[in-house]
Amino acid sequence: MPVMFQINGKIVPESEAYVPAMDRGFLFGDGVYEVIRTRGGKLFHPELHYARLTQSAQRLRIPFPWSLEELEKNIEATREAAGTGEHYVRIILTRGTGLAPNIDPAHAPSAPNIVLLVRPLELPSREQYEKGFSAWLVNTLRNHRQALDPAIKSGNYLNNIIALMEAKDHGADVALLLNSDGFLTEAPTSNVWIVKDGRTLTPPPEAGILLGITRGLLLDMARREDLPVYEEAISRETLLEADEIFLTSTLKDILAITALNGNPVGDGKPGPVTKDLARRFHQFVEPD
Ligand SMILES: Cc1ncc(COP(=O)(O)O)c(C=O)c1O
Repeated sequence: MPVMFQINGKIVPESEAYVPAMDRGFLFGDGVYEVIRTRGGKLFHPELHYARLTQSAQRLRIPFPWSLEELEKNIEATREAAGTGEHYVRIILTRGTGLAPNIDPAHAPSAPNIVLLVRPLELPSREQYEKGFSAWLVNTLRNHRQALDPAIKSGNYLNNIIALMEAKDHGADVALLLNSDGFLTEAPTSNVWIVKDGRTLTPPPEAGILLGITRGLLLDMARREDLPVYEEAISRETLLEADEIFLTSTLKDILAITALNGNPVGDGKPGPVTKDLARRFHQFVEPD
């Protein structure tokens, strides 16, 4: 059973996994989500994902009725139905089923819809880690914090999708987006980091980014190990002159960007700092 769902408490296979056509997530992207992975067969930091999910939901004033314990229990029941092995778990919470296709939340007086999706975990291949991704600095700007704050992990990913399409038009694997002040933000589904003169930098929250769980863990690790890793605004020029660039996300951990706008980054291979941080991170999250 490769993919299993739980829809408002009921575990069903994909062939029966439906939400109503008047669901506001479907109509307007009016919802939030999280992606959690397992490591060693256990949910990896569910409490951090729960905290971000409830914060995202609060910002959109969508009530999330489950405690962390209830969420974990529901995920485990769905995982059991999905079989053994490492899992990808997606939690989708929408404002619920509206009475009319009208954006006013007053038309959705009932409970939110909660969907869990569990499928086997797929990570980038060894070749992808060794080769790295190519990136394109796109013209599409990341959503402004005062418009749709990227810190809210909403179900509306059109900004990210448009940026990714633009990058793919240039033959790149992934997009990098600036904000309206010309500073680096993130990639469509990853945080971004650069290495310059031995210092590792990632954009601060004020740049307008999702506060990635992996980003937070890597910053924690760097602080504990006293590494030269900093949150710092990164201009377009600094990005273009970076010695190394890499991405972080739940589904990638640390993955190098080895080409930017068609030019090699450094010598076009994952750099020494990126490789060192990836090794340390692996040890940090999966100690022997
Ligand atoms: C826009 C965006 N930024 C960054 C990330 C990385 O976050 P995390 O490390 O929590 O997976 C994601 C993950 O989906 C994302 O969608």
